Amino acid sequence: MEGNNKTLGEFIIENQKEFKYSSGELSRLFNSIKLAAKVVSHKVNKAGLVDIVGGVGEKNVQGEDQQKLDVYANQVFIETIINRQIVCGITSEENDDFITVQGGDNGNNNKYILLMDPLDGSSNIDVNVSVGTIFSVYRRISPVGTPVILEDFLQPGINQVAAGYVIYGTSTMLVYTTGHGVNGFTLNPAIGSFYLSHPKIKFPVDGSIYSVNEGNYVRFPQGVKDYIKYCQQEEGDRPYTSRYIGSLVSDMHRNMLKGGIYMYPTSTKSRSGKLRLLYECNPMAFITEQAGGKASDGVTRIMEIEPTSLHERVPFYSGSINMVEKVEEFISKAQFSKY
Ligand code: AHG
Ligand code: MN
Ligand code: MN
Repeated sequence: MEGNNKTLGEFIIENQKEFKYSSGELSRLFNSIKLAAKVVSHKVNKAGLVDIVGGVGEKNVQGEDQQKLDVYANQVFIETIINRQIVCGITSEENDDFITVQGGDNGNNNKYILLMDPLDGSSNIDVNVSVGTIFSVYRRISPVGTPVILEDFLQPGINQVAAGYVIYGTSTMLVYTTGHGVNGFTLNPAIGSFYLSHPKIKFPVDGSIYSVNEGNYVRFPQGVKDYIKYCQQEEGDRPYTSRYIGSLVSDMHRNMLKGGIYMYPTSTKSRSGKLRLLYECNPMAFITEQAGGKASDGVTRIMEIEPTSLHERVPFYSGSINMVEKVEEFISKAQFSKY
């Protein structure tokens, strides 16, 4: 950051012309996201000191244990965004159904919807390991001035107008795209501003890191097993390095900077994988592609999948283009073993 003092706010204003829709609205949305991110970041940094570690004893709609920080981050993002009247609807991993944001007498005049995973990798919070927030923005398809409908949220990822993530790591960063490349901003906590620290992030075309929960190996499709064995073979630049944090944001962030592939395959236990298409895979796929990488479900481009429900899951392979193409090759060779 030394020598680079452009803030996120300045950067957005400077690049407004790149955004084909109303830039004022997008700036307002980003202002809210960065405010919520700062609030969550501050809380994450105090984990262990304040009572936010551990579970709340409830399960979310997907049957997963909710952590205190899941619930807190969800509230902060939703309240910040609703209070500022910027979007007409929100979908979150932590809410069963989408939220209709009321506005005016006849519904809401805002054009955007927000989809988010407020706290990604939440099981890592108790052990002081990086977590994140993922967000995705679309234009509504229903008429302005009416309440949002389910179809507004079930758009394919190619319709995204913006996507990003916040990583609460050794420092807090916000990384985003509006379809014109990917830029990363680091929070200076003393000042409370995000500064451009990683301009024009590019996925290395090739990489040497593979990230997958290898404990599930025996349950993976044959093609994925074959690819993992390929990663471990001694030949040329292989064996590759295995790195898995268990927090999609952190694993993807590292791989994007260093070159690598993230995989969450189907398994005999979960036939659709684990990750959620709308608020995990699509935004990460948009960022990956904008950084020159590739994201697929093993066969199909993630962003071209037509969603059928809010919390649907898909297998996810995302990262350096040559690595993703390689795993697709293995999956296609072993197609009859694909779950
Ligand atoms: P979340 O905390 O939002 O539920 O997401 C957790 C996800 C993802 O971040 C991570 O990569 C993956 O789950 C880890 O799953 P496993 O523990 O099955 O490897
Ligand atoms: Mn997640
Ligand atoms: Mn989450």
